Amino acid sequence: MTTTSRVGSSLPALDEPVRRAGPAGEGSRALVDGTGLVGRASEWAGLGAFLDEATQDGAALLLTGEPGVGKTALLSATADRAVAAGIRVIRGGGVEYESDISFAGLHQLVHPLGAELALLPQPAREVLEAALGFGTGPGPADMAILHAALSLFAEAARERPLLLVVDDLHLLDRASWYVLSFVARRTGGHRLGVLAALRTGIPELPEHLRLPEMPLAPLAEADAIRLLSRRFTGLPRRVITKVADQAQGNPLALLEFGALASASRTTGSGPPGPGSGPARELRADALTPQELEVAELAAASLPTKEIAARLVISPRTVSSHLYRVFPKLGISSRAALRDALTDRQRMTPAGPHRTR
Ligand SMILES: Nc1ncnc2c1ncn2[C@@H]1O[C@H](COP(=O)(O)OP(=O)(O)OP(=O)(O)O)[C@@H](O)[C@H]1O
Ligand SMILES: [Mg+2]
Repeated sequence: MTTTSRVGSSLPALDEPVRRAGPAGEGSRALVDGTGLVGRASEWAGLGAFLDEATQDGAALLLTGEPGVGKTALLSATADRAVAAGIRVIRGGGVEYESDISFAGLHQLVHPLGAELALLPQPAREVLEAALGFGTGPGPADMAILHAALSLFAEAARERPLLLVVDDLHLLDRASWYVLSFVARRTGGHRLGVLAALRTGIPELPEHLRLPEMPLAPLAEADAIRLLSRRFTGLPRRVITKVADQAQGNPLALLEFGALASASRTTGSGPPGPGSGPARELRADALTPQELEVAELAAASLPTKEIAARLVISPRTVSSHLYRVFPKLGISSRAALRDALTDRQRMTPAGPHRTR
């Protein structure tokens, strides 16, 4: 990657309010209710270098990390940064209800390029139109689709650098996954960037993308405290330290637990932590359905491997769920799980709250 940050030098520092870029043309709104991102200085610098490289000779980058660690936040801030630097940005991403529809993800990226599509040589245009369901011809061969998509993005990047920003790759339909990885590995020589985000711990992905990776670690403790102090100005230092400890640097957990701590202070029930009260109940309700399943099996003393086998997920995913469940329940060991879940059921007479 280049180290001279042409794009980076014209951009706001990360501590200044960062704006979230919506889908192209949608305008911007403040990130995290008007606060900027905290920490991530080295990632921000790396993303600046990535944008430089992408706009000069093409580049691809994959942000990876656990749920809530801040992949989307960084993607959005970078998309905005790119727009400010005059780069055309097209955003897309995997969505659960479209993950079984072939080329649904590719459609999001091609749709804004209608004018460029019309200018493609007829064979490539027809191939893409047929693949995306606009055309009437027979389904084209895979290789033809891959090449046609690359031609379209490369052609679009000729006039103005183009950045494709694709979130939640784990939810992308397989057909689009292959197209995206093909394009991302062939950005060289075009002013084309592919910036994508993928959750870690997801089993059964089609193939490794083999792209340069930027793994996002949880925030350092000082940044976690900074995030909480900026976002929840009324919280005393003692509570902030406790919340930071429970959230273990995960920004989503920091925001959720910080909100709970603020709420419980307003209702006079004290800071969150093991114990009863609305904070505890809300924390328990914040478990996702799969976290709850994992927690219930772990509370029944099943070892990680067996939980993984029963739920058909990897042991690593089990661990990462538990890693999030413990702070959510305000506990620090498996031994405390059973009590925490029993308390939860007592507080919610209808039983576990399962929404899928
Ligand atoms: N560095 C940061 N500073 C302040 N807030 C942050 C930071 N990183 C993330 N956040 C906030 O934390 C929350 C979770 O972040 P985000 O949605 O980006 O996580 P994610 O990694 O994309 O999670 P998922 O895998 O579930 O999509 C968001 O509200 C986001 O704005
Ligand atoms: Mg995300």
